[in-house]
Amino acid sequence: MLTKKRVLVGVTGGIAAYKAAELVSSLRESGATVNVVLTEAAREFVQPLTFKALSGNQVYTGLFGGLDPVPHISAAKESDLVVVYPATANFIGHAANGLAPDLLTTLVLAFKGPVVICPSMNARMFANVAVQHNLARLQDYGYVIVPPESGRLACGEVGQGRLPAPGAVLEVIRGALVPKDLKGLNFLVTAGPTREPLDPVRYISNRSSGKMGYALARAARDRGAQVVLISGPTSLAKPAGVSYSGVKTALEMREAVLENFDAADVVIMCAAVSDYRAKTPSPKKVKKEVREMVLEFVQNPDILEELGRLKRHQLLIGFAAEDDNILEHARRKLEAKNLDMVVANLIAQEGAGFEADTNIVKILFRNGRFLELPRMDKYEVAQRLMDMVLDMRRI
Ligand code: CTP
Repeated sequence: MLTKKRVLVGVTGGIAAYKAAELVSSLRESGATVNVVLTEAAREFVQPLTFKALSGNQVYTGLFGGLDPVPHISAAKESDLVVVYPATANFIGHAANGLAPDLLTTLVLAFKGPVVICPSMNARMFANVAVQHNLARLQDYGYVIVPPESGRLACGEVGQGRLPAPGAVLEVIRGALVPKDLKGLNFLVTAGPTREPLDPVRYISNRSSGKMGYALARAARDRGAQVVLISGPTSLAKPAGVSYSGVKTALEMREAVLENFDAADVVIMCAAVSDYRAKTPSPKKVKKEVREMVLEFVQNPDILEELGRLKRHQLLIGFAAEDDNILEHARRKLEAKNLDMVVANLIAQEGAGFEADTNIVKILFRNGRFLELPRMDKYEVAQRLMDMVLDMRRI
């Protein structure tokens, strides 16, 4: 995922410095080459040896005394991204004012690529107007600030100041490293299942988790697009930086999609929309008074088919979950719904489809071109689909 990327992790002297060990380890697991700078204060909390072992590289600790006479310049040149995790008020103050008293602040000044700063401190310190002013200034300069979380702090107080978990920061790093080549484009993405009520407490739905659709929304956002995500009920966190609309039924999803369709350049219908809804849902909870029950269903509108008829400048992408003859079915959907691309997968395949974190997809284009991606993480699949969207926009 971060293969061939070189990430420099700066650790400053806060109690959360121990979490940096896990971040380094996760970065390496993702395929990145990792270098670490520990400030003098950080070395009061954590040892260089830990980071040497986890990163597999020498740890930088100071401007002077090492083998390299200009470590700040070499490290800045040899990195694709710098992340400061945790960042103390002291580091933030220096960086915001262009001051460079040590190796980390110096190399941040010398570095041209994306810098991700993760403040972590006592809540009152974080709320202090000087700290907030410095952070606003860094954001203005183009630094990516990951705000601390609220909760119990090491000092025993409760408030905003906790360092976010390594996983959350890894996602920000991934996002900061991808090219912003979809800037200026508006994406409309649907995700998750729909729920069709039978009575006030029961519904019919399907196994869609929303993972693929959310990954698509995140991938488009990371590449600079404006994204509207229309989602059925899922247990996933709303992606940051995306305009989110939560819906329940297919009819609600249709309304939300049509509202946003005109403004969209690229529309990806990833949601597993229920094809049927109960003809007359009971207004009251159904009692178990009868031994057998027959439910009557009516067909829901096919949203994608409708979009295919309305389409003007939009690129229209559909999904197809199939259990056999995948290409034949996908081709039929592409034609019937007037699509530019269909992403199809076999539902029965291990490591693909509903609820899985990975997917194995076949992609069919309007001109008959067809390609198959090997099994990969859903976010990776989403990134590959973004490459294809970009190619199609260029034609
Ligand atoms: N879709 C939609 N509205 C529906 C049903 C499906 O917009 N009422 C969209 C899905 O979001 C997906 C595509 O249509 O992008 C394919 O859905 P699928 O249910 O697999 O296809 P159907 O056309 O319903 O065909 P079938 O049920 O026969 O497989």
